[in-house]
This record gives sequence, structure tokens and C-alpha cells, in this order.
Amino acid sequence: MSYKIVCIPGDGIGPEVVNEAKKVLDCVAKAGNLEFQYEDILMGGCSIDACGEPLTDEAIATAKAADAVLMGSIGGNTATSPWYKLPPEKRPEAGLLKLRKSLNLFANLRPAVLYDELAAACPLKEEISAAGFDMMIMRELTGGLYFGERSTKEVDGQLVAVDMLTYSEEEIRRIAIKGFEIAMKRGKKVTSVDKANVLDSSRLWRKVVEEVAKDYPEVTLEHMLVDNCAMQLVKDPKQFDVILTENMFGDILSDEASMVTGSIGMLASASLNDTKFGLYEPSGGSAPDIAGKGIANPIATILSASMMLRYSFDLDEAADAIDAAVKQVLKDGYRTIDIMPQDEESKSKVTLVGTSRMGDLICERIK
Ligand code: IPM
Ligand code: MN
Repeated sequence: MSYKIVCIPGDGIGPEVVNEAKKVLDCVAKAGNLEFQYEDILMGGCSIDACGEPLTDEAIATAKAADAVLMGSIGGNTATSPWYKLPPEKRPEAGLLKLRKSLNLFANLRPAVLYDELAAACPLKEEISAAGFDMMIMRELTGGLYFGERSTKEVDGQLVAVDMLTYSEEEIRRIAIKGFEIAMKRGKKVTSVDKANVLDSSRLWRKVVEEVAKDYPEVTLEHMLVDNCAMQLVKDPKQFDVILTENMFGDILSDEASMVTGSIGMLASASLNDTKFGLYEPSGGSAPDIAGKGIANPIATILSASMMLRYSFDLDEAADAIDAAVKQVLKDGYRTIDIMPQDEESKSKVTLVGTSRMGDLICERIK
């Protein structure tokens, strides 16, 4: 079988980590009689520099024609990069939002898992981290505050800014269905997160989620207010299986969840539409401070490639092989700088490696 993958290396550490993911994909291809064809497109700061806009229509068309998209990261230092002197709709992030919207990628899956081997990096109290956790944040990605009308106007002598938060029943229903489908393959529990004590959009969210839940009698549904959820994530993360939430809440909670794993460099993500097509990217940012140094952790991107095999290509075995190789590499004591233990004794038991070596070590462990 042959698959067409469009790559978006992007900015900062993006090109380095995408390279390692391709290396691992090729390794899997060899082992499994598969073929991956790659084509790069520009997005983010590099596209602004080359084409004057963060994502061209031509690039979108190329992405649309692929079987899946693998992305590194976009953007630069918001304080120093000239990209951030541009109006908001011309900045690197606008490219990503345009891509999400034009490919209708409404379902964002962000797993947050605490690996046994990295428990020492977890900032939570030991009695909490010892229990471990494994949750999937399902974030609605093409609605809500991100895509509502916005404006800044002068009213009675002062500036007033407005951002509209809108959700339709259909937008809520389709992400809820995805959430319950994923829960059926995991721990069969959905925690739907909203602010229904204040917001109309949240009350509609709750109503629609309850309707969808009727079709999944095996799944336990609970509702949680977003402020409480933020607290529960650090108090008792093990209680969560699938967290189902709207765009803005999901943005914030997924960063929080990634931090409690202690290692944002480990976290993959997938953005899906209602076909098999998806955009796969690490949850971390472009880390301009370490770009080009060969020290970035490629594991999140490699695990994103694994999600691509699982969700877009139905190649579960190949995905399992990558996930197992990553676990093994950690077990064998290899660490990039971001996941190095802090105390001297633990440090002496592991080996510090760079981006490319980490990719090679994972390849070596693919069966
Ligand atoms: C993310 C990022 C984006 C978002 C930014 C870069 C627009 O923070 O993928 O979580 O807010 O969705
Ligand atoms: Mn974010």
C-alpha cells in the first residue's frame, strides 16, 4: 500500500522533529511492505517570508489532496520576531487556523499519558503521580471563540473589543459523537467540560452531549465545570478517561494536562474531520530558543506519526510498533534534554541524546 503524506516542517524545531518522524515512518514502511510518499508545503513564518502570507491557497490544495498531513510546528518568538509586528490575520498562527478551518478538522485529540519511566518528571505529589494517568482530551477545533466574529471599536471615547462565542447543535453533536466513539475504544468514560452555570453555549453543549450519550449506553457520562476540571487535573488526574470540551477550554486544559505529564515534548495530537483524513502534530510549540541545535525531543512528532497510522490509515500494528519502540527507548535509559531527570543520582542512570540519535534509537527498536 502507498500513502501520500504532506509534511509541514514549519518553523523553529519543526523541520528537525519532522525529519525524525519521517525516518521512523520509513523504518516501519520497510518492515511492513508499505510506501510513504512525502511532499512538503510551507506554513507559518517560513511561508510569510517566502510568499508573504502564512498559508497559500495552493498549499491548502496540496494538503487536501494528501491522505494525511504531518506537521512540525509554526511560529517564532512573539516578543522579538518581525512576524508578530504583522496584523493578526497575517501572523504564523493564522496559517494553522486557516488550515484547520479549510480542512474541516473539527476534532482534536490530545492524549496526555504519564509514562512510568518519566514519573520523576511529573510535577505532582508522588502519591498522585504513582497512580499514573492516561487521558484523551477531545477538543472541538473549528468553532467557538476562535472562529466567531471579532472587532475592536471605539465606543464613547474608549476602545471596546468583542469576540463572539457561537456553537450550533450540529457542531456540538459531531465532536460529541467522536468523543463517545473514542471512549468506547478506551475506558468508556466521558467527562464533558463546560461552564453551564454561566454560558448559554455551555448549556446547549450539555444538552446535545446528553442526547448523544443515549446512543452509547456502555459509556459513563459526567459533566464538569471547567474551573473544577482545571483543579481536578492536578488533584486527581487518574479519574479522567476522555475529556470532551469546546475549543477555548480545550486549548487551556490540554496545556495543563501536558504539563502534569512533565514532558510536553512527549505529547502527540491528531486533528480529524469526518473522513479518515487528519492533521498530526506534536502538542509542543516551535521552541525557537533551541531551534537548529539538534537537541529537541522528536518523540511527540514520532508519536503523532503513529497516531496518523492508527487513525488515518488503519495501520494499528505499525502504530503499536512505534509506540512500543518509544517505550523501549525510554526503558533503555535514553533521554533528550527536556526529559532528563533533575537529581544527580537519576541523571547518572540515563544517557542524554540529541534529536537525530533519538530517532535512530527508536528505529533500531522497531520490530
Ligand atoms: C494549539 C495552539 C494554537 C491554538 C495556536 C497556535 C493558535 O496553542 O494548537 O493549542 O490555540 O489552537
Ligand atoms: Mn494551545
